[in-house]
Amino acid sequence: MVKNKVLVTSALPYVNNVPHLGNMVCVLSADVYTRYLRLRKIPVIYVLGTDEHGTTTETRAIKESLTPREVCDKYAKIHKKIYDWFECSPDCWGRSSSKENAELSQDIFLKLAKNGYIKEGEVEQAWCPSCKRFLSDRYILGECPFCGYTSARGDQCEKCGKLLEPKQLVNPRCELCSGTPVFKNSKHLFIDLPKIEPKLREWIAKSEKKWSLNAKTMTQAWLKEGLLPRCITRDLQWGIPVPYKGFEGKVFYSWFDAPIAYIGITKENLNEWKDWWLNSSKVRLVQFMGKDNIPFHTILFPASLIGSGDDYTLLDEISVNEYLNYEGGMFSKSKGVGVFGDDAMESKVPADIYRYYLMVNRPERADTEFSWQDFKDKNNRELVANLGNLVYRTLSFIARFRNGELPKPAESKPNDAHKFLEQWKLSLGRIDEAMEAIELKKALREIMELSSLGNWYFQTSEPWKSGPEVADTALYLLANLLKDLSILLFPFMPKSAEEIQKQLQLKEPKWADLGKLSLQPGDKILEPAHMFNKMEDNFPDIMRAKHSGQQQAAHPFSKIDLRVAEILEVREHPSANKLFIEKISLGTETRQIVSGLRGYFNADELVGKHIVVVANLEPAVLRGEKSDGMLLAALSGKDLKLVLAPKSKPGEPVGIKGIIQTPAKIVNISEFKEAELSINGKQVYSKGKGPLQSASETLAIDMSDGTSVS
Ligand code: 2FM
Ligand code: ZN
Repeated sequence: MVKNKVLVTSALPYVNNVPHLGNMVCVLSADVYTRYLRLRKIPVIYVLGTDEHGTTTETRAIKESLTPREVCDKYAKIHKKIYDWFECSPDCWGRSSSKENAELSQDIFLKLAKNGYIKEGEVEQAWCPSCKRFLSDRYILGECPFCGYTSARGDQCEKCGKLLEPKQLVNPRCELCSGTPVFKNSKHLFIDLPKIEPKLREWIAKSEKKWSLNAKTMTQAWLKEGLLPRCITRDLQWGIPVPYKGFEGKVFYSWFDAPIAYIGITKENLNEWKDWWLNSSKVRLVQFMGKDNIPFHTILFPASLIGSGDDYTLLDEISVNEYLNYEGGMFSKSKGVGVFGDDAMESKVPADIYRYYLMVNRPERADTEFSWQDFKDKNNRELVANLGNLVYRTLSFIARFRNGELPKPAESKPNDAHKFLEQWKLSLGRIDEAMEAIELKKALREIMELSSLGNWYFQTSEPWKSGPEVADTALYLLANLLKDLSILLFPFMPKSAEEIQKQLQLKEPKWADLGKLSLQPGDKILEPAHMFNKMEDNFPDIMRAKHSGQQQAAHPFSKIDLRVAEILEVREHPSANKLFIEKISLGTETRQIVSGLRGYFNADELVGKHIVVVANLEPAVLRGEKSDGMLLAALSGKDLKLVLAPKSKPGEPVGIKGIIQTPAKIVNISEFKEAELSINGKQVYSKGKGPLQSASETLAIDMSDGTSVS
């Protein structure tokens, strides 16, 4: 049976991160391949959307004081805007948190259970008694047992790189409230991979022939190690409810429902979704992803589908990209390093240029690098000097010296024309082969070689001085070459390709037109315009500085680490009659601070109060006593008032909705003052943004307005 339809997916990016150019590689690859299939008139749909469940969403929601649903709504919109800007053209766009996906995930799960592929088991998990929630490994912080780094995470120490188990952390603490987690057993459901293994192996043996080498190798390594039952439920609130007795209140593990969302998204968009997903003999499934996603697509997802017993369309071809690095390092949104989708949109560089650069630099077999110097060089040397030059010189020559009409070629073609036609044909063959094999980078390089061939032919034909035989033949053939280049480039640079097609007045070009001299003598062209702009020499320096993470014009409040603290003890400063010395608790640590509260409060009435302190302020020595932090208070006439947080736990971070805290280092008093804290209606604002809040409450100060805080 011939599979005459193609279903294309690209890994669904996590919703709560703005995608960076490295993430865009995968999405764009799928888009390029789909556009190519459309040009070949092959029935195809491309499925794209956001992966929305899991702890990262829950944590982001707490940090931004939004509900998980609000976080997803907010970021899904941003994702969509970015993909639209990049000219991505999914046929089905959607979200893993849709009702369609919930229904499908539950249905597949229930069928797995009915077929005997679901097992119960126990998992030991960290539980935060004060937040009353289970913490996933990444959200437990503590001291690394290997290098002593104090902010190691439960899955890995970022400093020494060692992989960790949460239980190995010394003094573990909850990322959200700094409380001490306890370890508890919790009941969970597992997909019985060993039981599905025989069927899975049979399918892999049949299908892997067309997989990329990295996908085959990694999958075989997993099989060799032996498959284990894999936990597919989690103790979270945000996710798809598990429809199983005794497991109420739990949700599916996001890697269970995220791949099912490819189907869910199709269902969200198309009534005839079954023609694609329950039609395995007619549909070829081609999946694009980064290398870290392989086992989920070659083992977990197919095992879920096979185990359901339904005839789901399973992976036929897999295209795996390696990583794109940024200027010798990694992309990091929190540090402001690298180019993210929103940066690209604001950069005034057209989307086509990014598309070109990312595809010509596609990490196809090994990691590659994004560098601004290389970006500029490729734009200037390849797009401006090669492609743009060929288009402009050919069309402007025809416009100016042939009245905008394609001339008639000579009956017998000059020698160079033969050579040109022969090379052109060979080149088309190589491009076709590479596109078919999804070697997109190779195909694009070949396309640019073909453009160079055009420039060579223009140059050797010298139409400005050769006789009409040579010149007319050259212009006629070159116009037809531009037609081919516009078709070949369309998947990669749709807007630029359409520009060429507009100038040539082509109607609905298709892949089958390649190699045909279908433009005829007498056909009219439009006056050409320059397609690409040269980038200046200082462009890389400007962009590098802008995206290096050093010059972010972040809100000054984002640098400040405000925490709730409990006052444990108060004593009078021995040598300053306006100062108290307080011992305070920040949950995981106690500190001493010195403050000017004496004269306004009695020592006794302060003890036990939950106040707010600047926890990353440079320590100071005040009249011989160390002060490690500063509390927030404000003066109102003769009264001094404290910013209070009676419902919050010591150590709880205090923030402002919409401002992401990145208090990486110590701040000094003038940096603190830049945040310009002020009071409005008994609440505290920073430069008009606010109010200050913890996870438990909005903070208050018993004062109505005006006076600056602290
Ligand atoms: O690695 C990632 O970005 C995942 N969100 C990919 C999920 S792919 C699919 F399963 F949805
Ligand atoms: Zn906690």
